[in-house]
Amino acid sequence: MDILYFPKEEEEEKEFQGITKNCKELILSLPKVKGWRTPNLYLFQRFWCQPKEIQAIISAQTHFEAHDSDVIIATIPKSGTTWLKALVFAIVNRRRFDVNSIDHPLLRSNPHDLVPFLEYKVYADNQVPNLSNLDSPRLFASHVPYTSNCKVVCICRNPFDTFVSIWHFMTNIRPNNLGPFSLEEAFDMYCMGQVGYGPYWDHMLGYWKESLNSPQKVMFLKYEDLKEDVNLQVTRLAEFLGCLFSAQEKRDHVVEDITKLCSFQNMKNLEVNKDGKSILNFDNKGLFRKGEVGDWVNLLSEEMVERLSQIMDEKLAGTGLEFPNILKS
Ligand code: A3P
Repeated sequence: MDILYFPKEEEEEKEFQGITKNCKELILSLPKVKGWRTPNLYLFQRFWCQPKEIQAIISAQTHFEAHDSDVIIATIPKSGTTWLKALVFAIVNRRRFDVNSIDHPLLRSNPHDLVPFLEYKVYADNQVPNLSNLDSPRLFASHVPYTSNCKVVCICRNPFDTFVSIWHFMTNIRPNNLGPFSLEEAFDMYCMGQVGYGPYWDHMLGYWKESLNSPQKVMFLKYEDLKEDVNLQVTRLAEFLGCLFSAQEKRDHVVEDITKLCSFQNMKNLEVNKDGKSILNFDNKGLFRKGEVGDWVNLLSEEMVERLSQIMDEKLAGTGLEFPNILKS
């Protein structure tokens, strides 16, 4: 008898590889929808994610003990995480690592190796590492929409470009045997909040509200503001992180040197970012696509823009958080 071959089942098996029995049971009890690069996304603690992420998040929530001096970079995917990691690393370590040194760690390592994700690196694959010996301030990152009691820097990006960025990223890495995933289908899911670590607006508003309630603990940045004046935002970041630039550093143009080191063109052209794989098995080069504001015009139809604008207007109403009205720009 012929054996029927269902390639999708293979992916379904893979998505639970390394997941403990208890965790699998928990995950299988959760609501699920079609995944963007894995068979399914599950609704865990009111956000959508994949089985391996859920296991690592539970582990991080159980084992991670934040120090007051820690800094966590909190983002929803494709909102400028890589850039922010590089900037924060360069700022807080500038006395250890001269920004102009040809041996600067950012020239040899991808930012995701220097500022590891709790859920993709630190607590991935069932490991519970001892973090107590790491130099202070310890820098970590997370896509999870929760806060910790240490300092958190959050970056968000307008939903149109964030969608376009994640669409390109996911279609590049989506396994063929998961079958087609059209732009329209992805956009529909995005509008329903069904995207990794989404709904997008809940993620963003969670950190936005925390930043209003505890401005010394949570700093909220926008990708667009960084693009407009990165030197200003780097100066604000240093103030928030408790390592202000001295008058001498300002005269020496240290701020500008940091922004140059972390610029899109500079980072994109480094060997380590052309060849390596720093998050799971994704090519680092996929992390540096265009780095522009407004690339959504090349992908989204008028109807799409109108639909998402309406959703965002509803979700952001009365919150004080705004993005420029792109319909009028
Ligand atoms: P595009 O896909 O629009 O080009 P994340 O780091 O959260 O995954 O976000 C990825 C987005 O940030 C990508 O956007 C990428 O090109 C952009 N990006 C990466 N490094 C950057 C940098 N140094 N400066 C500006 N944008 C950057």
